Amino acid sequence: MAEKRARDPEPGPSPSVLFLHPDLGVGGAERLVLDAALALQARGCSVKLWTAHYDPGHCFADSRGLQVSACIPVLKLARRRKKILFYCHFPDLLLTRRDSFLKRLYRAPIDWIEEYTTGMADCILVNSQFTAAIFKETFKSLSHIEPDVLYPSLNVTSFDSTAPEKLDDLVPEGKKFLFLSINRYERKKNLTLALEALVKLRGRLTSQDWDKVHLIMAGGYDERVLENVDHYQELKKMVQQSDLAQCVTFLRSFSDKQKISLLHGCTCVLYTPSHEHFGIVPLEAMYMQCPVIAVNSGGPLESITHGVTGFLCEPDPVHFSEAMEKFIHEPSLKATMGLAGRARVKAKFSSEAFTEQLYQYVTKLLV
Ligand SMILES: *[C@@H]1O[C@H](CO)[C@@H](O)[C@H](O)[C@H]1NC(C)=O
Ligand SMILES: *[C@@H]1O[C@H](CO)[C@@H](O)[C@H](O)[C@H]1NC(C)=O
Repeated sequence: MAEKRARDPEPGPSPSVLFLHPDLGVGGAERLVLDAALALQARGCSVKLWTAHYDPGHCFADSRGLQVSACIPVLKLARRRKKILFYCHFPDLLLTRRDSFLKRLYRAPIDWIEEYTTGMADCILVNSQFTAAIFKETFKSLSHIEPDVLYPSLNVTSFDSTAPEKLDDLVPEGKKFLFLSINRYERKKNLTLALEALVKLRGRLTSQDWDKVHLIMAGGYDERVLENVDHYQELKKMVQQSDLAQCVTFLRSFSDKQKISLLHGCTCVLYTPSHEHFGIVPLEAMYMQCPVIAVNSGGPLESITHGVTGFLCEPDPVHFSEAMEKFIHEPSLKATMGLAGRARVKAKFSSEAFTEQLYQYVTKLLV
């Protein structure tokens, strides 16, 4: 949540921006807020960060260079003339399950926006067109507000600085076409779609080509989470029953280095969830020059360009297997789509693109 002083009718040389964020810990949302703050500071904005919880011993090191005060004087703000920019990161649960407790929890800030934004040139940002649509549907009282989209960015530092390893440990010898699924072991991620597509692919290939195909199912796995444990067993059983044991490797949890090596070495990523709000995996894959076959709904519609950086398909095994087959009969596709993918991430989803867009939204508030 950022706030902008509207002293001048024209954008001033040094806009002053105040970020309000409830808790400045070490999670992904905090990283994003902090990156945004540092980025605006680098663009010449005078930046302050207000938070209800800040522990200098437990925060990102670079936050200490900003002035952080541990309070949120929200009501005081409302009495002075400000421009307010909200960047909404609603939890998945709230938007998909419309959980009533979560909705109540979010009621307070939403009421606050409703009360104070009328008549002000405020701006609400969300992380995809898809989230914007759900936002409007969920918070009907805010239907007069048109959320703008500010895509999350991919911090490529670790991708650039990690040398990919050989995949000998994970992939049997002689496998030339390596498909990779990366997702938590959760049913809503529809991992079975990848396995069913592999079965269909088998039916489309000569046995010679089929022998060179392998699928790696890599995913976050926590043995304390019952769904992870159960679902892993279900998938393993499915592999046995479909006679796929020779061509599927399960990888439960993985290091960053393994992920980068897999993305570097595989032919194509299979991204199976429907209605994903954004989905960072397709960005990671594209940055590593790896094409993505994804379901044609949700965030991937915005991150992937169909036919250029990958394929967007109906969530059914036949369409997925048709797309997979293209990479086998047209081996140059991986390289051309891979290059296009990297270029797309750099242009639209880089830290620089994020900073530039946020800066534009901030300066737009001044006009
Ligand atoms: C990206 O991540 C690295 C290491 O985690 C961090 O040092 C750097 O500041 C980040 N870059 C941006 C632009 O957020
Ligand atoms: C999951 O994949 C199956 C095919 O494996 C498909 O029938 C189903 O519609 C998909 N689920 C969703 C929510 O897309």
